[in-house]
Amino acid sequence: DETKAGVKGLADSGITSIPAIFHHPNLHLTPAASNISIPTIDLSLPRPMAVDLIRAASRDWGFFQLVNHGIPLSTIEATISAVRSFHELPTAVRSQHYTRTHVGGVSYYSNPDLLLSAAASWRDTLYVTFGPVRPELDRIPEVCRAEMVAWKQHAREVAREVMGMMCEGLGVGPGRLEEMTCLEGTGMVGNYYPPCPEPHRTLGVVDHTDPGVLTVLIQDQIGGLQVKKMINGDEYCWVDVNPVPGALVFNAGDLLQIISNDEYQSVQHRVVANSGENGRVSVAVFFSPGKREDSDIYGPLPELISVENPAKYCNLKMSELMGAFFNKELASKSILQQFK
Ligand code: SIN
Ligand code: FE2
Repeated sequence: DETKAGVKGLADSGITSIPAIFHHPNLHLTPAASNISIPTIDLSLPRPMAVDLIRAASRDWGFFQLVNHGIPLSTIEATISAVRSFHELPTAVRSQHYTRTHVGGVSYYSNPDLLLSAAASWRDTLYVTFGPVRPELDRIPEVCRAEMVAWKQHAREVAREVMGMMCEGLGVGPGRLEEMTCLEGTGMVGNYYPPCPEPHRTLGVVDHTDPGVLTVLIQDQIGGLQVKKMINGDEYCWVDVNPVPGALVFNAGDLLQIISNDEYQSVQHRVVANSGENGRVSVAVFFSPGKREDSDIYGPLPELISVENPAKYCNLKMSELMGAFFNKELASKSILQQFK
């Protein structure tokens, strides 16, 4: 079955043009802005300075790269390289992992966003849910199992630090989001973007915002992630997130924008396809509340709300947030409007 080989299988088949399902209508791949870049923040700065920079970046960009965070470069490279090894396994071996359903917390598939998008995306995804329910570890492909499990721990530690600093930037205690279980809901995706014979016709991932609280991403040196930067009014440009060896890319999700009452921005981003020799690898870890009962509600923090600064969103349940995310028909439509 060919689909089990993913987009990688298609790329390997030697096609010189891509199937029509991958064509994105009205795709404007204007060159990315070259005069601006997303902030790079040095975590070894004195804490008050780093807090200020993280707050400003979360407010003005919704994205930043973090360096000097203490995770060894070799750990990051080992994670990327293990995920690459999985996606570059011989087709017959890799396709045995193919699944349309998320069983035991693990799935491998193409086009998780097909329902959100007008066209298919040029990527394959290995998806592992680490929390609140732990995955059945032996379902994670062995070639990247130890590395993904280890990476989850590193990502959590640095996300805890950054989340605490984001809280301080809001003027609330550093444990505020953690107490709301925002580090407990944890998903990891190991993405693979195969070389594409017609990169101008498709996208690796269509424009979207992340629904949760905080995303931590590592990428190899190929590049392709772009962030939408609003300039004024309706004007915007796409800004490349240039690979920086050892850097972690952080971005705020929709729920953090809601919780912070619009102080922090959940910003649209996408991945462009590339025609290079090698597939691009990225590994993203998504953090969101682990408590998801209908009695667990999330909304703007009461301490940020006043007569002068009223709540911009209503309280919501995680089921409502995820429902909105998976049901949105047009990828570029923000789900935030629904919770105003
Ligand atoms: C994503 O935002 O879904 C993926 C980002 C990336 O691969 O760089
Ligand atoms: Fe994303």
